[in-house]
Order: sequence, then structure tokens, then C-alpha cells
Amino acid sequence: MGTDVFHSEVPLRVNGRPHSPVVDHRATLLDVLREQLDLTGAKKGCDHGQCGACTVLVDGRRANSCLLLAVAVEGCDITTVEGLRGAEDGPPHPLQRAFVERDAFQCGYCTPGQLCSALGMLAEARAGHASHVTDPQVKGGEPVPLSRQEIQERLSGNLCRCGAYPRIVEAVQDTAAAGDVEGGGVR
Ligand code: FES
Ligand code: FES
Repeated sequence: MGTDVFHSEVPLRVNGRPHSPVVDHRATLLDVLREQLDLTGAKKGCDHGQCGACTVLVDGRRANSCLLLAVAVEGCDITTVEGLRGAEDGPPHPLQRAFVERDAFQCGYCTPGQLCSALGMLAEARAGHASHVTDPQVKGGEPVPLSRQEIQERLSGNLCRCGAYPRIVEAVQDTAAAGDVEGGGVR
């Protein structure tokens, strides 16, 4: 596929690697990741921004990749679930280990989105971004303590049709308590 009035080359980095796919101007980031870059971890659940199965990190911030046009992320750093391990043969990310240890899934369809969302959420809380349920006594800019309710609120954009929510929250709590997740992207 070459560039023309409907297609452009879009340089970007995915999981630390440079790519320059030629994309249809109407293509979403999710479709480009899955169909052109063979990264099928991010899932298409609703394709309408309602389920969170397609969540990836864009420059360290969570985003529903089904709602983002690929041409809008030119020059960005994208992290998908495939990038959480760092190296391809690296050990699982602490969040992935916690999900396994807590048995925090059944079918696993929502899990890539839950993991990317949890990673972004941990960085947001650590940076002091308040949520709807944050105690007003917490000073702005200070890390927000991650109570069960805080995690539930911050992951409320990620649906799980299997209802694994209690264990997902426990896995994220374990990871936050261990304090072994740094940054919002690939380690
Ligand atoms: S597939 Fe993107 S939010 Fe559901
Ligand atoms: S584990 Fe099945 S949708 Fe969440």
C-alpha cells in the first residue's frame, strides 16, 4: 500500500520499536496495531469506547485505541500489552504476575486492557491525580492511596463480562503495595 490522498505514512514507536505503517486516514490505532503490526493483544470489544478492551498507553497515558485515529498518534510512544514484559523473552511484568497469582481472569478477553489500564492508573495515582472518590484530605500532587474503592473507580472504564472484578482489584492492590511498578510505560 502506498501513500495517496487517502493514505499516509505514520511514524510511531510501539513497545520501544520504530514503525512507519502506511495507514488509511480512517483507520483506528486499534486496527493498525492488530491488522498491520500483528499486535493482537489489544482487543476489539465494542469498538465504541465503552468496554476498555482496546486500552493501550499513548505517551504513558491510557487511551481507548478504538477511538483514536492512527494518523493522530504520529510520533507517539505506544505501549500495548505485548510491551509490558520489556524484552520479548523477559519475565512477566509485576502486574501480569499478580493477575496470575490472584487468578484475576476467566476468558482473558478483557485482560490486556485491564493490565494497560492498571499500569496507567498506578502512574496517575502516584503522580497525585485525584479521582471522583479520592479523599479531599489528600493534598494535591501527593500520591493518592489506593483503597479498594479508589481502584474500582479508576478501573471503571474496563468492563469484564466474566465478572473477575474482585480479583482484578486484589491483583492491582498487591502490585501497588509491593511498589515494584515504575513509570507508565515499558520498564
Ligand atoms: S473496543 Fe475500544 S472501548 Fe471497547
Ligand atoms: S476475564 Fe473474561 S471478560 Fe474479563
